[in-house]
Amino acid sequence: MSKVVLAYSGGLDTTVCIPLLKEKYGFEEVITVTVDIGQPRKEIKRAEERGNKYADKHYTVDAKKEFGEALVMLIKANGEYEGYPLGTALARPITAKKVAEIALKEGAEAVAHGATGKGNDQLRFDNVFYEYGLRVVAPMRELNLTREWEIEYAKQHGIDVPVTKDKPWSIDENIWSRSIEGGDLEKPDFVPPEEIYEWTISPQEAPDEPEIVEVGFEAGRPVSLNGEIADVFEIIEKLNEIGGKHGVGRNDMMEDRVLGLKARENYEHPAATILLTAHRDLEKLVLSRRELKFKRFVEEEWAELVYYGLTNEPLFDALNAFIDETQKRVTGWVKLRLYKGSVLPVARDSPFALYREELTSFDSLAIDQRYSEGFSRFHGLQGRLFRELMRKKE
Ligand code: ARG
Repeated sequence: MSKVVLAYSGGLDTTVCIPLLKEKYGFEEVITVTVDIGQPRKEIKRAEERGNKYADKHYTVDAKKEFGEALVMLIKANGEYEGYPLGTALARPITAKKVAEIALKEGAEAVAHGATGKGNDQLRFDNVFYEYGLRVVAPMRELNLTREWEIEYAKQHGIDVPVTKDKPWSIDENIWSRSIEGGDLEKPDFVPPEEIYEWTISPQEAPDEPEIVEVGFEAGRPVSLNGEIADVFEIIEKLNEIGGKHGVGRNDMMEDRVLGLKARENYEHPAATILLTAHRDLEKLVLSRRELKFKRFVEEEWAELVYYGLTNEPLFDALNAFIDETQKRVTGWVKLRLYKGSVLPVARDSPFALYREELTSFDSLAIDQRYSEGFSRFHGLQGRLFRELMRKKE
């Protein structure tokens, strides 16, 4: 029997794929796989119910641990692409890998995904699937379907359609970020209505009292929240809740997709904003000026590899090794103030700080300031020589 394993979210596109894989591609058995990367429980449940109802067999795979570890690396790398903290991008290869493993176990002839031919997700899925030597079927990319056609087709096949005309948003979420796309949001000059947000309250509606949170790090990894030891998944869950309550982590941006298409994206990611702000702040206390400067280039390259779905690159391993080396001393804590959509570091400490109060303080005599006079005589020397020359030429 010819089998295909489908990466399944339970949404309209991937559900429509089930009958399509049979009718248009001739597969006899469709197996759906939903990978748990910390999307809301009700999403997993819905996917499970719909998978069991419409496909021949369904798997739910828990990849929360693996995704949590990938997120720790992202935090160490201060991972952001054009200001987007890479939630979907980082998760896709993990999802793809789980789907590929089931395809091999099931002896399936092919794997399928619901990504279109316009976005980044196709590249991220395909790269992993091809790495596993699998045949890839992508109905949304290959058949050029419109949303209207899909809705009609779904109805004909007894599939309930979750989207309605007045809420045409396309959502993608996991524990790190939630993206909202489609409908009028595709017009960059359209101001999004409040209803697109689910994780964050509007900053105007946020409490008038600010809240301080304290994040503890060990070797770059978040290990505690407000003094309580917790694993990274728990910390992210709690910070999404606390940050969301203060309207932290909304993001409305233009983004350059891998293909070169510009897209208008809306995101919310309270924990990501808080953790990345905290981590960067701690690094500034601990890392040397040169480490910080060089690491920025590494971070940019790292984020691009993740965004492009190229984490199987040997360069990715090399960058991670560099980043891990720098993180050995990134231990300590940062306090941040959350207030009406903003996150501001307000205090920090580390046993590895390269800061010494007795050296920098206005009130200290630990440094004989007269030593600096000699330094200053050479500082800017070439610039002065150049200006002098120019004056003479005039
Ligand atoms: N623009 C983001 C990215 O490329 C989010 C994509 C969301 N994906 C989706 N299928 N709706 O990672």
